[in-house]
Amino acid sequence: MAVLGIETSCDDTGVGVVANGEVRANLVASQTLLHARYGGVVPELASREHTAVLDRLVEQALAQAGLELRDLDLVAATRGPGLVGPLLVGLSYAKALAWGLGLPFVGVHHLEGHIHGALAAAEDWAPPFLVLIASGGHTHLYDVPAWGEYRLLGATRDDAAGEAFDKVARTLGLGYPGGPEIERLAREGDPQAVPFSVPMRGRAGYDFSFSGLKTAAVRFVQEGYAPTDIAAGFQRVVVASLVGTLERAARATGRRRVVVAGGVAANRALREALAASGLEVVLPPPGLTSDNGAMIALAAESRWRRVPEPDPFDVTAEPYWPLGEAG
Ligand code: KG4
Ligand code: ZN
Repeated sequence: MAVLGIETSCDDTGVGVVANGEVRANLVASQTLLHARYGGVVPELASREHTAVLDRLVEQALAQAGLELRDLDLVAATRGPGLVGPLLVGLSYAKALAWGLGLPFVGVHHLEGHIHGALAAAEDWAPPFLVLIASGGHTHLYDVPAWGEYRLLGATRDDAAGEAFDKVARTLGLGYPGGPEIERLAREGDPQAVPFSVPMRGRAGYDFSFSGLKTAAVRFVQEGYAPTDIAAGFQRVVVASLVGTLERAARATGRRRVVVAGGVAANRALREALAASGLEVVLPPPGLTSDNGAMIALAAESRWRRVPEPDPFDVTAEPYWPLGEAG
């Protein structure tokens, strides 16, 4: 079974080809440089760039996979959540392609994509498990009792974890995306030198809050702390918040297995803390952490194996779409 997956929910164009569960191609055209000087993603520019590169990227991904259009069995695209213009570019392309080839089409939830991207290297994994998604737009903790069922345990009350990395990086004069930059700087710093406190520690429930850390970082810069120590201290408390909350949720639900996904899952300090936590953790393999098309193809293939029903061609983009709810 060969699946084409298209991801255009934000600022990266992703095209992946998955054949019988194996990632055969996974190309991402990054728009980071295009948006860099605006300090954030400009939706109209993102839509235009997706439109300009998508067709060529599909050709290249198929060539890399050693397949042709007629070899495909299923076409999938991200349906939401995300920016409506960028979503519509990928979704319309995928639906038109499926229609033209006489193939079934599946619209995928972006977070379900991240989950299946993480599970790419864990074939024997099946629910029940917990899922923590930490990206630039999301910090969500779910209990997953069965495939396709998502019970939201907690979420960020303000900034997403990745967003906090990006904002603190900007405060320290570093580039975008901030996560890798902070991680690099933190390696030279002392994580205990700056008195950051772990947000939400001691509170009931499983919500997160990261916007206070940005304010604290601004203050610590003014007070003359070294950027390396600020980066290390900030990273320490973000990791402590994510892993501590996961551990509490695991104890309360009795789950032992945890899927950690989203861009922040690339963070080495987070990976080390998870490894030391005693939880059984699965993380995305390299190339499947940040937004990409292969994770969309993997999610579509998984759904198709359980429920081989295409989506009707009149499904449209869902910029706001809580996971587990009907689109
Ligand atoms: O999942 P993703 O690629 O895009 C979405 O937001 O959907 O996540 C991007 C986020 C950015 O905020 C970026 O700073 C963060 O993930 N990130 C990291 C690392 N690599 C990327 N955060 C911490 N450490 C990293 N190594
Ligand atoms: Zn994402």
